[in-house]
Amino acid sequence: MSSALNIIGQGINRVEGRAKVTGRANYAADNHPPGLVYAFGVHSTVASGRIATIATEEARALPGVLGVWHHGNIPPIFRSPNDHGSGTKVGEARPPFEDDRVYYAGQYVAVVAATTFEQARAAAQLVSVRYEDEPDPVAATMESALAAHGEISRGGDARRGDPEAAWDAAAVKIDATYTTAPEVHHPLELHATVAVWQGDDVVLHDSTQSLNGERNAIAKMLGVPLERVTVKAPYIGGGFGGKLFMWNHTVIACALARELGRPVKLYVERRHQSTSVGHRPFTRQRLRVAADEAGKLLSVRHETHSLTSLVDEFQEGCGGVTRALYEVANLGVTHRMVPANIGTPTSMRAPGAAPGLFALECAVDELAQALRLDPIEFRLRNLPELEPERKLPWSSNHLPECFAVGSARFGWARRDPAPGSMRDGSEILGWGVAGASWGAHRGPCAARAEFRLDGTLRVSCGTQDIGTGTYTVIAQVAAEVTSLPVERITVVLGDTRLPPGPNSGGSQVTATVIPAVAEAARNVTQALFRVATRRNGPLAGKDPKQLSLLGGVIVYAEDPTLRRTIPETLAACRLGSIDAEGRSGPNPEAQKYAFRCFGAHFAEVRWDPGLARLRVSRIVSVLDAGRIINAKTALSQIHGALLMGLGMTLMEESVYDPRTGRVVNDNFADYHIPTHADTPEMDVVFLDHPDPHMGEFGARGIGELGITGITAAIANAVHHATGKRVRDLPIVTEKLLD
Ligand code: MOS
Repeated sequence: MSSALNIIGQGINRVEGRAKVTGRANYAADNHPPGLVYAFGVHSTVASGRIATIATEEARALPGVLGVWHHGNIPPIFRSPNDHGSGTKVGEARPPFEDDRVYYAGQYVAVVAATTFEQARAAAQLVSVRYEDEPDPVAATMESALAAHGEISRGGDARRGDPEAAWDAAAVKIDATYTTAPEVHHPLELHATVAVWQGDDVVLHDSTQSLNGERNAIAKMLGVPLERVTVKAPYIGGGFGGKLFMWNHTVIACALARELGRPVKLYVERRHQSTSVGHRPFTRQRLRVAADEAGKLLSVRHETHSLTSLVDEFQEGCGGVTRALYEVANLGVTHRMVPANIGTPTSMRAPGAAPGLFALECAVDELAQALRLDPIEFRLRNLPELEPERKLPWSSNHLPECFAVGSARFGWARRDPAPGSMRDGSEILGWGVAGASWGAHRGPCAARAEFRLDGTLRVSCGTQDIGTGTYTVIAQVAAEVTSLPVERITVVLGDTRLPPGPNSGGSQVTATVIPAVAEAARNVTQALFRVATRRNGPLAGKDPKQLSLLGGVIVYAEDPTLRRTIPETLAACRLGSIDAEGRSGPNPEAQKYAFRCFGAHFAEVRWDPGLARLRVSRIVSVLDAGRIINAKTALSQIHGALLMGLGMTLMEESVYDPRTGRVVNDNFADYHIPTHADTPEMDVVFLDHPDPHMGEFGARGIGELGITGITAAIANAVHHATGKRVRDLPIVTEKLLD
């Protein structure tokens, strides 16, 4: 169904934008229920050891202090079953304060509660912890961790044909090892929880990408029936994966609030964003790619080692996208985790694919260069007709068009392939290209739509908007289906009491909510027509099939002068409102087609060898993500992802002191991210071809796609400018000096 509005695709402003810029949007830490007390964490200063003693007398003697808790006196906190399938997965499997063991610097070793924030913080600094060192030295780097703990295999591997034999027989080959640095999500809004018990019920105000996952986890970890837990997250200031799974501060706040019989607020300091709430782990990837002289890929091997913690396993699935991107008969993909004395890593924007495509798309560039083939031409010769692993047709795949459109806009034909050959005054230009790809998922979702007496449509769903535009996209879909102007649509999200919706992960929310919201909007429209045509209704006796909604007014087809507004209809029926639900499941065509998003990135860097200055000056990105629902919020997603990718390529690195295992740059002064001055001109094009198998409107998803491949495009441009192949991110200037 399509209305005259044609609002799908329009770049309308965020419907919650005014609330955000005027400060009316309340984030988790903005909640101050009566009786609120403040908790503050005490974090381990050692990365490995045992807690010998904890002296709390001084802290407890401070005014306002309500208590100090640690492994010796914390009220019961159980383990999460950590089952991905049921959605009960937490960031760190080991519950806080389980025993006296310390596995990483930054681990919670105690927590203080006091009547003011300042008292809690001051008291936390007076808690004195004495540690007994473990006999084993701290292992916080790949080399030391491999030596101390070895490697773990947990699946995600793949094999086709005989990659070793094909490699041996191939004419042209590249064997190169790439590393990517640990990165921290650093959302602007810090992780924070306000936990409020009312009798046996608990309400959490939390900054989370997964309302329902968190509700499940809290129920299990505190031994509370599920229906007694409510999670609220109406506004979230970014997450990037760091808020996808629940971390320890949330369950600590809940446990303390129950113990004290008062609401408790606990937030995670900026410095502990580096240790206590996940990060993108260090990866080491060996790529062996081989082709024949005609430029046909013969063998690809992609072997990943990534660091994990000693308290949980998180695998960075770098080779996942390698299984799908190119046609190659002989393939080997392996993943190994190496436990280290670091906080547990987690999903970070395009987990696996962002570091994975850095390695793969650089190796492909190196191979094309060895073949003296244009890197785009090389890719076009090796793109698969069918999804290579399952031999399924693509639901929709316009990757060649991405390269063609991008080439034209970027001016790729003018590129001289010789490194260092394109000068502009004192600067040397480097032009690089890479492909982008991310999966396209759709999960189960329910939504409710309700026409109200004031003429508005209220649409609610138990998902959350982490800043990406979910509120606005839902409003647009409901407007398109009902023909109500978007100003008369109220979207309510961020509360587990609403019909259950998806977590904000995997770039799945838009495709997941659309079918449920559209169905709810259609169902409530039909319900409205039914009551309008009942015996006492304002259109009694008319055939509901002859009714339609036009700008929110019911119109009778056989006599267009016969029209009733929604408030008139409800009032005549003595109804305060009328509502209906819509439900949808996973994509019914998921087994028939292969679903992925694609893109092509082109980057220009400028290298000034005299000043040793490297800048990214221009990016062209062409994306094939199905139909775009909102041109403005979609563009914001890609701008953010490209900049995040620029940071990953040139700047971002969470540095662990190898001796102590402590994060050295746990603050915004030392952890470098791109600023406005680093921001290049970004020319983003959405091909906007609806995916015919993704569901109504044909949207796939764009949250993560933009950061896949951009790292390689920039790194390839750096090579083109400087002649140096830097395979270890970030490419800081000193790696370019002789
Ligand atoms: Mo995203 S890393 O799936 O939040």
